[in-house]
Amino acid sequence: MLFFGGDYNPEQWPEEVWAEDVALMRQAGVTIATVGVFAWSNLEPEPGHYEFGWLDRVLDRLHDGGIRVALATPTASPPPWFTLAHPEAMPVGADGVRLTHGSRDTYCVSAPAYRAAARGIAAKLAERYANHPALAMWHVHNEYGTDCRCDATAAAFRAWLQKKHGDLDALNESWTTAFWSQRYSDWAQITPPRATQYLPNPAHVLDFRRFLSDELLSGYVEQRDLLRAANPDVPITTNFVQGGWVSVDHARWATEVDLVAVDHYPAATDAGAEEETAFAGDLARGWGGGSWLLMETAPNLIYTSGRMHAKEPGRLTRHSLGYVARGSGGAMYFQWRQPRGGAELFHSALVPHAGPDSPIFREAVGLGRRLRALSPHVAEAGPPSARIAVTWDAPSWWALQGGGLPSADIDYLAAVQQAHRVLFRSKLATDFVFPGVSTDLGDYRMIVVPHLYLVSDEAAAAFRDYVANGGRLVVGYLSGIAEPDTRIRLGGYPGAFRDVLGVRVVEWHPQPPGVEFPLDNGERASRWSERVETAGAETLARYTAGVLAGAPAVTRNRYGAGSAWYVSTALTDDGLGRLLRSVAEEAGVAPVLPGLPAPVEAVRRGDLLFLFNHGIAAATVPLPGPAVDAATGRDRGDTVTVQGGGVATVRLR
Ligand code: GAL
Repeated sequence: MLFFGGDYNPEQWPEEVWAEDVALMRQAGVTIATVGVFAWSNLEPEPGHYEFGWLDRVLDRLHDGGIRVALATPTASPPPWFTLAHPEAMPVGADGVRLTHGSRDTYCVSAPAYRAAARGIAAKLAERYANHPALAMWHVHNEYGTDCRCDATAAAFRAWLQKKHGDLDALNESWTTAFWSQRYSDWAQITPPRATQYLPNPAHVLDFRRFLSDELLSGYVEQRDLLRAANPDVPITTNFVQGGWVSVDHARWATEVDLVAVDHYPAATDAGAEEETAFAGDLARGWGGGSWLLMETAPNLIYTSGRMHAKEPGRLTRHSLGYVARGSGGAMYFQWRQPRGGAELFHSALVPHAGPDSPIFREAVGLGRRLRALSPHVAEAGPPSARIAVTWDAPSWWALQGGGLPSADIDYLAAVQQAHRVLFRSKLATDFVFPGVSTDLGDYRMIVVPHLYLVSDEAAAAFRDYVANGGRLVVGYLSGIAEPDTRIRLGGYPGAFRDVLGVRVVEWHPQPPGVEFPLDNGERASRWSERVETAGAETLARYTAGVLAGAPAVTRNRYGAGSAWYVSTALTDDGLGRLLRSVAEEAGVAPVLPGLPAPVEAVRRGDLLFLFNHGIAAATVPLPGPAVDAATGRDRGDTVTVQGGGVATVRLR
């Protein structure tokens, strides 16, 4: 059964409202409610004094209404009494300023008092609710990601570094501390990166980011293990967040959760939102190894660029089914009922301030009905499958967020999103692979590698084998530059990929913003260029202007049974699309459906086909054969007309 529901905060409301909540949830076909995410101060109003009566009544009510519960541990927001009792457990920024309560996410995950308090409340919840019949899953914490640079963090960081590097000589070598007299002669000299005079050491910063991800993960694992001990049959997860700030390496975390749960709030309000949704769904599916769960998205108004943006009718349904098409086991929202106060008082909800007599609640009712009808088909269909993958690597992203880089326009996330976007627009199904975590590159026919700055020897060898065995590899600039600890691979860029690409880059020529320059094959490029020397590769396009005029810009190398392309500059979306489509064609990878009208997106899961019309006018889609409507079982023939802004789901016969 597909999940449908979201964050439910009855602690914000008088008990009279709870009965209406359950009645409305039933009306909308809600199957699950996430309860207790920020309820610590209601559950433990004073240290060691617990009030579970209200939560008992909430869970029983939901259970009586046939609604399951994702029960959260409330550890993302310790109560004010905790701050006063343990000021040392409040997070300290790089500038040395210690924060205090008054918002949320104010804790230091390395502080022993915080850890003890988090274990304490999680254990109480486990003891009381681990066998509650409504319990569908545990939702540990909320969006792990809090950064702290305090002394407790410093101690934990040193322990992590000792484990990783073994001795100080190895650390000094790995961090190149001979640069700017940073050599450490005692572990006690090492702190988290803190406010300093000028550029910090990039290896220090990157190790800290890796440490922080692991440290937050250990906080999760501690809670998970005690919840699991209380009832090993209940799945345990925590909600990952996707967006421009991400403190943890989700590809690593994914193996520690029973199901990958993801919060996704597309920032774009135009067609970009569809592309973001597809990106989020494909990436989450990669983390989850085929399946995942959309834990939060906004039903309607979201805060974007300084003002809230309302979703037009149908968008909630279209995007929600978009996540489901891409492997989500349901659609869940932040949040059920819009709050009367608090910091996010205007954030949208399925039940808005206006009440259930509102377009959003009516759309929710329709969506609940559709999800119910789709459930059995999705259960049979299995995940969508793709023959093309794009690489994703959080440490490469982090490394490219640092200072000391050759251009201020370097944007890892944008480069990966561009690769995915042009494949999406080309109607080519796409997966993700995680070469920093696993060298298993699957049996993809084509892999696109944007800005994979850090590459281990093992990953480089895996890419080589992949191409030698017939794979098609498209490598973008700023890939293969450094070892995982940020030390440059010498002898010419892109170090890790030089042999498989048959090129050697001897100089970078970053370009000023806003300037486009032509290549000799008619494509236009911007932001970046390089002096590429071929060493076996053929040149597909050359630079035409400036000192690089006549030099290779895009190349292709035949290597074993496969081929590897190198793109040394930033192509336009259209240009990159043309290149990737030609590679896909050569690799024998076809679009999801032939002849799809431009605004229609198709996602195929076995014989189940989702057709999303992101345009305004109705569109007619030719099918590969006769189909039946997945919701009604009615014959649809071999064409389907999808209303503007609508979604059709059919089963091919
Ligand atoms: C999420 C968070 C929710 C809520 C939401 C607002 O990231 O988990 O608690 O704050 O954002 O968009």
